[in-house]
Amino acid sequence: MKIAIIYSVPTKRAVATQYLAADEDTKVSAEKVSAAMLSKGHDPRLIPITEDSIEKISKISADCMVNLIEWSGLDLPLNFQAVKAMVSTGIPFTGGDVTNLHITSDKVSMKTALDAHHLPTSKWQHFTTGAEAIRDDFSYPVIVKLALEHCSVGLSNDAVVSDKESLARLVKNRAKEFGQPIVAEEFITGRELQVTVLDRPQPQGLSVLPPAEIFFSTAQGFLTYGGRWDEKHPDYNTSSIGVAKLTPPLAKKIDTIARTTFKLMKFCDYARLDIRVRDRDMFILEANSNPGLDDDPEYGMTVSYKAIGMTFTDFIWEIIESCLRRSVTMF
Ligand SMILES: Nc1ncnc2c1ncn2[C@@H]1O[C@H](COP(=O)(O)OP(=O)(O)O)[C@@H](O)[C@H]1O
Ligand SMILES: [Mg+2]
Repeated sequence: MKIAIIYSVPTKRAVATQYLAADEDTKVSAEKVSAAMLSKGHDPRLIPITEDSIEKISKISADCMVNLIEWSGLDLPLNFQAVKAMVSTGIPFTGGDVTNLHITSDKVSMKTALDAHHLPTSKWQHFTTGAEAIRDDFSYPVIVKLALEHCSVGLSNDAVVSDKESLARLVKNRAKEFGQPIVAEEFITGRELQVTVLDRPQPQGLSVLPPAEIFFSTAQGFLTYGGRWDEKHPDYNTSSIGVAKLTPPLAKKIDTIARTTFKLMKFCDYARLDIRVRDRDMFILEANSNPGLDDDPEYGMTVSYKAIGMTFTDFIWEIIESCLRRSVTMF
């Protein structure tokens, strides 16, 4: 089968920032996906897409496309152009469709959608300038995130504040520094899980894989940019990942929430939810409809597919199979 593996090349804007690492990993991921599909006897083709070559997508000829496009921040609109070009080819492509992308690629739309579907997420507020009045009913601490980013871009230890005055100050500073909308939300002290949902062939069908847990060295720990991407940062390696040990009732609750989110959001093929658990309550931090594909052992999806005995190749192939099944039922 001819499989086009489409990945984004960092834009000139991203290259000029200190956050390049978060946008740069798509090439390595694409190469790993390609090697996996080659090992299965397929005919993969790597297609790098730059901000100036999006129209290249419309001319692709293949049986299926693996979508590893992941521009972020102020480059977010390019993702929509790319997905529209994929749709125009009529070739099935893996992961989220245009609607999914609209919902999940920025944190304001995502939190709005989670609330609209009555899915559990922490109390939040959207800011554009930082001059807005802060809601009175926040319980502190509160975390301040950049609405258009991913991979913890803009998240350092000072992103968590403990009172209204500090929140007002931080929101204003972040809005000015990054020139993009801000989401502030109640910080949930508790366990952090990455939950992978995979649309498997029958008899399994839609399946929630065993969740991965991020283990932090401190109770207030969270995934900062330095901790995730910067080997020289003191936060680097202060967390680890493994299969979550869950009581049966908690496992059941997570299974139900992940499954329900996937269905209500009409996700395709696979998705990953970042969830925090506090006592018996669960809070969805984000729902990613097109998470990057990589066999990195530090990656939640890797921990989860390995926990059921799958290899990276099996995992990618099931995602592609799901994508092909969808395209058959569409016609
Ligand atoms: N409400 C929250 N409570 C506790 N930790 C949070 C919260 N929101 C984000 N975090 C921490 O910040 C990290 C990144 O936030 P997330 O919303 O997943 O954005 P990103 O798209 O950057 O991954 C999370 O993995 C978690 O460690
Ligand atoms: Mg996340």
